[in-house]
Amino acid sequence: MISIAAIAAFCLGVTSQAAIIVPRQAAYSTDSGLAGQTIYMPSTVPANVKLPVIVWGVGGCSDSGTATAEFHQELASYGFLVIVNNGPTSRGTVAADTLVTAANWAEKVAGTGKYASVDKSRIAVAGWSCGGLQAYTVANDPRWVTIGIFSSGQLDASQSVPVASKIVKPIFYFLGGNGDPAQTPGTRDYGNLPKTTPAWIGTDNKGHGHSGTGTFTAPAIKTAAVRWAQWLLRGNTTAATFFTNNAEATKAGWTGISSQSLDKIAVTPI
Ligand SMILES: *[C@@H]1O[C@H](CO)[C@@H](O)[C@H](O)[C@H]1NC(C)=O
Repeated sequence: MISIAAIAAFCLGVTSQAAIIVPRQAAYSTDSGLAGQTIYMPSTVPANVKLPVIVWGVGGCSDSGTATAEFHQELASYGFLVIVNNGPTSRGTVAADTLVTAANWAEKVAGTGKYASVDKSRIAVAGWSCGGLQAYTVANDPRWVTIGIFSSGQLDASQSVPVASKIVKPIFYFLGGNGDPAQTPGTRDYGNLPKTTPAWIGTDNKGHGHSGTGTFTAPAIKTAAVRWAQWLLRGNTTAATFFTNNAEATKAGWTGISSQSLDKIAVTPI
């Protein structure tokens, strides 16, 4: 039997940098320099692989940092440092600026110690439901490469234009269909983006929790999130076809797909 390490070494030898690794093999940890947040990293990082950063706002702005652990583990295992803005067991309410705190911390530790592989030039912000609203709140921080809105949108219709019309970074909406109270708000926000802003929207019909239980365990949402991060943060153009050619997303269970200005996305591959 060929070991995973041998396969990884083989891939690294023949492709530029097959970025990972072992799906779902990513542990979470905490760091005394980043109180009240939960950090997910791949369990092993080949020497020449860089880890872009995803800061994530939890559902309800109060879910624990492990409430959707399997989803974050899966994402991290593809070569990302995922920082979730609540402690592993905390159910305390968190503020939107914790996302900025996470990015500040990532910038500080990148290149040092266990974070030697972290690439601070590639940081995304995302969030689920109330956490998605927090991503919107800090959306104009110039560091974000992209914004991920998961089952979220401005519930107050009067806020849609003021918020959405200011978004310039590529923004991706992953909505849950008719069972998702964010379906209408998210769709409305998408419609109010500047037409020059690269954007994608789709619905997986899994409801507000994306799996019916709020655990983000369904393959459709995991696949879409991984492809989003691979394209926007790693510059992987193979992953891009999930969004630029509806066939893949449709096969994965996504409907109501629309996009605009995706041809403006240009990311140097790492
Ligand atoms: C690029 O993305 C595709 C689709 O997700 C994946 O199969 C491939 O391994 C990725 N390549 C690298 C170098 O990460």
